[in-house]
Amino acid sequence: LDATESRTAKLVAQKGSSVFKEQAANATFGFNQPYLGPTLRVSKGDFNPIIENQIPTPISVHWHGLLIPGAHDGGPHLPIAKGEEWAPKMQVDQPPATLWYHTHIHERTGHDVHKGLAGILQISDGRDDERGLPSDYGVDDLTLVLQDRRMDDQGFVSYQPAMPDYMHGFTGNAMLVNGQYGSVAVAPKSIVRLRLINGSNARIYALHFEDERAFQLIATDSGYLENPLMMTKLPLSPGERAEILVDFSSGKPALLKSDADPNQGPGGMMGNMMGRMRGMVDAVFDRSIDILPFVVDERVRPRITKFADKLDAPAFNLRRGDVVKTRTFIMDLMGGTEGFSINNQRFDMGRIDVDVALGSTEIWRVGSHMLAHPFHVHGAVFQVLSEGQSLPRPHNLGFKDTVLVGDEVELLIRFDHPASKEHPFMYHCHILEHEDAGMMGQFTVS
Ligand code: C2O
Ligand code: CU
Ligand code: CU
Repeated sequence: LDATESRTAKLVAQKGSSVFKEQAANATFGFNQPYLGPTLRVSKGDFNPIIENQIPTPISVHWHGLLIPGAHDGGPHLPIAKGEEWAPKMQVDQPPATLWYHTHIHERTGHDVHKGLAGILQISDGRDDERGLPSDYGVDDLTLVLQDRRMDDQGFVSYQPAMPDYMHGFTGNAMLVNGQYGSVAVAPKSIVRLRLINGSNARIYALHFEDERAFQLIATDSGYLENPLMMTKLPLSPGERAEILVDFSSGKPALLKSDADPNQGPGGMMGNMMGRMRGMVDAVFDRSIDILPFVVDERVRPRITKFADKLDAPAFNLRRGDVVKTRTFIMDLMGGTEGFSINNQRFDMGRIDVDVALGSTEIWRVGSHMLAHPFHVHGAVFQVLSEGQSLPRPHNLGFKDTVLVGDEVELLIRFDHPASKEHPFMYHCHILEHEDAGMMGQFTVS
């Protein structure tokens, strides 16, 4: 993925070309290219992109993880019709993190993201050298968008979900990294940073290397961890990001793999429920998959040779003592008469579900029925206080905007960005089929 430092980047949503006319319906979508979009790199200050839509159906561009007012958030209330432009004027004011952007039109998100309407947004402050972190884009700082995609037998990306795909989420039969099939990553003989983005519609990964080498988790969705953590396995659900440091100084190649998705496979829903009863949300019910092989190129000059020490974690001012309200959200596939729902209500563009006070801190208790659901909140950062009555698992210790909910989680969340009735923020399951089917709510901040 090419990177652009421009604060006024222009993104043109367009169709990929298709070789045969009769297959035009199978064309992929992308921004400025046939599939996905460029990596936008910005630092504090103005961010004034221009988005033009050349696709026949409306799109939007939601800045997932960017802390900005609802009016610029790019959710379902901000569609860009064919031939139109959208030019939000934003101020970036948040610590370094790996975010992403994607279309968010209600009932079309699964289809349009599967076709390719997504890209990466990196916030940087230019101080990673001081931190001793790899930061040479595409050399020792690799951005990896993980997406499983379903291909038909002619090799076209195809999105035709049937009922089971709505239930379990739409998973693919081919693994793409940065929109490419069968690619190989090249690493220098040193420490390499991987920015991992789960851009899949539904697949939940549990990432690890085939040789079980330990790696260091340095950042989660919203920024650095104060104390980087060594681990051998990293769960990553749709919408979540993680940055890890991997040591290639031995020169040995590596293979990044994932355990099976706990929501899929023969166990499926029953297996997941049983797994959860045994307290093992990450249990393996299906088979594991290969994600990406790495080879080491000794000709590339190594820059960073040791793992990170303490980092400067962002200050998001989340304090338990500031909590003014506790709310509960239950994600369900069969909520009352509504089916895919949160708190027994299906998403309704015309209904505001929650009003929160600007500048306030709350506790959100989030539970799920039947499956594990990644819960995402727009316009806010949270910290996981507990998972299933216990302390959060290591990968959930940092600041986040998306968390996988198997057992009930308690989130400490603060709302510093305004959103009106006309342009509310969303909270939803990031399994896009669940979101499209109604597992979403909206809230104002004022
Ligand atoms: Cu990444 Cu509301 O989405
Ligand atoms: Cu978002
Ligand atoms: Cu879900």
